Amino acid sequence: MSQVKSIQNSAMKRSTVALAVLFSIAAAYYIYLPLPSAISEPWKLMFMDAILRGVMHVSFLGHSLGLSQPFDFARLAASWDEVRGSEFIPGVRVTETTFAGVETQVFESTTVDAKSRLKRGIVYFHGGGWTLGSAKMQTYYLQCRSMAEQLDAVVLSIEYRLAPEARFPEQYNEALQVSKHILTADVLSRYSIDPKRVAVSGDSAGANLAAAVAQEMALDRTIPVKYKVQALLYPTLQALDFNTPSYQQNGNIPILHRPLMARFWLEYLNGDPKLVPVLLANNHSFPRQIIAAARSKVDWTRLLPASVQKTYQPVFPLQGDPELLEKLPGLLDVRAAPLLATTQTLRAVPPAYIMTIEHDVLRDDGLMYANRLREARVPVTHDHIPDGFHGCLSFAFGPFRFSSGFRSFRKYIHWLKENL
Ligand SMILES: *[C@@H]1O[C@H](CO)[C@@H](O)[C@H](O)[C@H]1NC(C)=O
Repeated sequence: MSQVKSIQNSAMKRSTVALAVLFSIAAAYYIYLPLPSAISEPWKLMFMDAILRGVMHVSFLGHSLGLSQPFDFARLAASWDEVRGSEFIPGVRVTETTFAGVETQVFESTTVDAKSRLKRGIVYFHGGGWTLGSAKMQTYYLQCRSMAEQLDAVVLSIEYRLAPEARFPEQYNEALQVSKHILTADVLSRYSIDPKRVAVSGDSAGANLAAAVAQEMALDRTIPVKYKVQALLYPTLQALDFNTPSYQQNGNIPILHRPLMARFWLEYLNGDPKLVPVLLANNHSFPRQIIAAARSKVDWTRLLPASVQKTYQPVFPLQGDPELLEKLPGLLDVRAAPLLATTQTLRAVPPAYIMTIEHDVLRDDGLMYANRLREARVPVTHDHIPDGFHGCLSFAFGPFRFSSGFRSFRKYIHWLKENL
């Protein structure tokens, strides 16, 4: 009897051990991702990426089972990270308001000697592929609060609407309307903001909005108060070429995998998610003159230094999908893809700070824009983070913190201190 039991017991133990081993292998397989040795803190990054990928998988699964929109679960997960109520910290007042109908978190420096003087102003657009993220997310909330404190500034973090409720050009229009509204004498004086010291800034998709708005605001002669500078953190600036050297080099690097970026563009431009492989293959065949003009502005064989091009080859299939432009007119719209602006437009825009990250599919979008701005004689400061990953500046804050996050945030603050 007891012998039977012990046999049963040991069989159970064995199968438990076997299950545990299998589970660990599966988990390791899911978590493990070969990363370049030049990335700092690779294990932490792998672990964080596994969580984010897991969230995306569940989110897309929910959609394929017909339960939800593709990014619903991801948004729910992100909302767990929102700050609840505004914890008081001395030196910064946080309030919620709306400008031109757009919700905004306002972070005001309240240091004693700031009361009598005018302050810097920064209009900030958070990232998240025009689909995710919020000014109330812990990372963005803490970043903006810290900016207000360290720069003795008023930071206006814009809660623009997200896909799928809003599609291009709605996010862009909101960003523009809210910019015009904030840059009026009335609002500036209400917050004691110096009209000569207002910046527009953002990261990733938010930097896309910042760059697009900076162009339009610079061209519009009816606007008396202009942005003094633009500060773009690893911006996404074009969707014509998903095979720049940085897209080819960093396609599998956390946290912005190459197909996810294509997916975000389709969310923004209201395209069918089935077009992801078409975009990734650069499979567009536009009328020759149109595409020639656009391509010259994203021609990385000319716009990138040889050290970045390495041995990567351009991908331009001769026979693409002839209907792609009809399906995605936004592809050639400069309001969605600020890199496509004419040199004449670029001449008008304010001095720029551009941060790029080595291990980021969007590195070359930023590098090409920096180069085109320089060609248009716009002063550009370019900071490069050689050991970071896409979005790393946000990870100076919140539950996962990275050294590349602290360093990139310091560089960003340093530039704003000197130039705003
Ligand atoms: C690219 O377009 C061509 C022509 O429409 C089509 O035959 C091919 O399957 C497409 N390839 C991809 C990856 O979409």
